[in-house]
Amino acid sequence: MLSIIDIGSLTIALSLYIYAARARITDVVLFGDSYTAADGGVQWPWYLVGGAVCSNNLTPLYGEPDVSSGQQAWFIQDHIEAYNTSRQKLLLDPSSFVVVQFIGTNDVGIGSFLTADQAANVSLPDVADCQLNSLRMMHALGARKFILNSLIPLQLTGLYSNSSAPTIYYPQVHDGNAWNKGMYNLVHSLNRILSDGIDVLNAEWVGDGHVEWFNTYDLFETFYNNPALYFNGSIPANVTGHCHQCPDPNDYTKCGIGDCTLTERDSYMWWDELHPSEQTGRNLAAEIFRKIEGKSQY
Ligand SMILES: *[C@@H]1O[C@H](CO)[C@@H](O)[C@H](O)[C@H]1NC(C)=O
Ligand SMILES: *[C@@H]1O[C@H](CO)[C@@H](O)[C@H](O)[C@H]1NC(C)=O
Ligand SMILES: *[C@@H]1O[C@H](CO)[C@@H](O)[C@H](O)[C@H]1NC(C)=O
Ligand SMILES: *[C@@H]1O[C@H](CO)[C@@H](O)[C@H](O)[C@H]1NC(C)=O
Ligand SMILES: *[C@@H]1O[C@H](CO)[C@@H](O)[C@H](O)[C@H]1NC(C)=O
Repeated sequence: MLSIIDIGSLTIALSLYIYAARARITDVVLFGDSYTAADGGVQWPWYLVGGAVCSNNLTPLYGEPDVSSGQQAWFIQDHIEAYNTSRQKLLLDPSSFVVVQFIGTNDVGIGSFLTADQAANVSLPDVADCQLNSLRMMHALGARKFILNSLIPLQLTGLYSNSSAPTIYYPQVHDGNAWNKGMYNLVHSLNRILSDGIDVLNAEWVGDGHVEWFNTYDLFETFYNNPALYFNGSIPANVTGHCHQCPDPNDYTKCGIGDCTLTERDSYMWWDELHPSEQTGRNLAAEIFRKIEGKSQY
């Protein structure tokens, strides 16, 4: 069974919620992919769905509500008055909230570009345009502050490493070398198109709205290259392995056998072959918050 793919956004969302509440500042509106439904009724404008993609029309994976339509529809229902009339009005002060968009992992991976499973008429620029158009639509609704996150170095994950061994996410021998280089190329290509694209958006908006690039790629490389600074569990920091184990890639019911212990968990950069650990999520949220405050180098 292929489980839902995300990038641990729930931890990011929860951590940002705590920071923002502490600082009594802004709302943070998050769009992206994440574990679902574990948010225990906290009222906070995030719209994160495990296994989500930018558009189900372009790169359908699990049919989860996507960033460009499903998740935006939720935002509109929650925060736009008269949302289905011509007199739409944003119920939030545009200066009081930041829209953070963090999507793309599922658009490029297995079941999509990496394994040539995308539709024959879909290309990487279509996925980038989807992301940029989602920001345009939020701008049209009245949002003015945006952060667009780059893709992480997915080639550093176990799933997209150069190992050809089966994993729980892809329980078959495959060409690890081709996957590793292919993913490196996909991530760099999409990030480059997106970062060029935000210059286009900022020029379009001529000062009435601004999108910042958040370099999640470089930040994750910093974690990877300086493990001891970021990972604080009870064993030496580990950025190559992962805590959660599935000893038989063909039997997900055995997952959990051989996991690291609770006290060891925060030593790991990765939770499993694809997902960042909770501690990585905390580190990322702390840096996104510095970004919102205008104090981040990423
Ligand atoms: C607006 O949406 C509400 C609830 O979905 C519906 O009852 C109403 O008929 C809609 N109005 C228009 C003008 O479409
Ligand atoms: C791709 O082709 C399908 C029909 O085969 C069509 O429904 C879809 O709109 C096309 N997508 C793009 C991005 O042109
Ligand atoms: C995979 O990468 C590791 C280090 O990243 C390297 O030592 C190894 O030779 C590579 N294996 C293959 C098959 O390319
Ligand atoms: C590691 O640091 C984070 C803050 O970044 C903290 O929340 C967490 O409790 C720490 N973990 C351990 C095991 O001390
Ligand atoms: C990192 O963790 C993995 C478990 O996934 C383990 O096999 C490996 O030996 C660890 N590496 C280091 C340097 O501790």
